[in-house]
Amino acid sequence: MKTALTKFRKLLITAMAVTLAACAGGAAETAATPAPAAAPEETAQPQTAEPVTEQNEERVLVVYFSATGTTKRVAEMIADITGADLYEIKAAQEYTEADLDWHDSNSRTTHEQNDPEVRPEIGSDPVSLEGYTTVYIGYPIWWGEEPRIMDTFVESSSFEGITVIPFCTSSSSGMGRSGKNLEENAGSGTWLEGRRFGAGASEEELKSWIDGQQ
Ligand SMILES: Cc1cc2nc3c(=O)[nH]c(=O)nc-3n(C[C@H](O)[C@H](O)[C@H](O)COP(=O)(O)O)c2cc1C
Repeated sequence: MKTALTKFRKLLITAMAVTLAACAGGAAETAATPAPAAAPEETAQPQTAEPVTEQNEERVLVVYFSATGTTKRVAEMIADITGADLYEIKAAQEYTEADLDWHDSNSRTTHEQNDPEVRPEIGSDPVSLEGYTTVYIGYPIWWGEEPRIMDTFVESSSFEGITVIPFCTSSSSGMGRSGKNLEENAGSGTWLEGRRFGAGASEEELKSWIDGQQ
């Protein structure tokens, strides 16, 4: 009986030892298991850069009308210097040499310039002024004023938010009321003084005038 009891105790002790060992092993195993990586700290995400808007970008357009090429040349030089786009106002009915004869009291231009209400039709495709910050607007002086086709143009355009800089060419006359007439007929935009140029206007002359505008 005593032997059986002793065997039972041995068995019990062995069983407990095995259980303890198993537990200890399990614990060791658990300890060896790498600790789960700490939850990654929320890393500061780089701010998504605002798309570079071009809202403040200066965009320049040179609009001109030229019957015999003098204003065209000046307009092209201004566009070159300022990096501007160019738009030519062309008359739907082109001006002939006879039309331009200012010695003839019956010529087309004499009639047009005598009537401030005349609005000759524009034949070139319309231009959108949207997005432009500055518009130079050039024309020859006819009878001391702007050709009436310039009034057709300004009355059909919105210069809202645009700085408008008139310029003209002539044989000898100054700008006269032409800049003011155009500003009044346009009814929008910030109109600057403007300037008259002769047929021989040089790049230096234009550059120094343009620099003075900024
Ligand atoms: C009908 C007409 C009227 C003109 N009137 C004047 C004038 O009053 N004063 C002036 O100095 N030049 C006058 N001119 C000359 C033009 O202003 C000058 O030649 C101008 O530079 C022409 O520009 P364009 O070649 O771009 O048309 C007149 C020209 C024409 C055709």
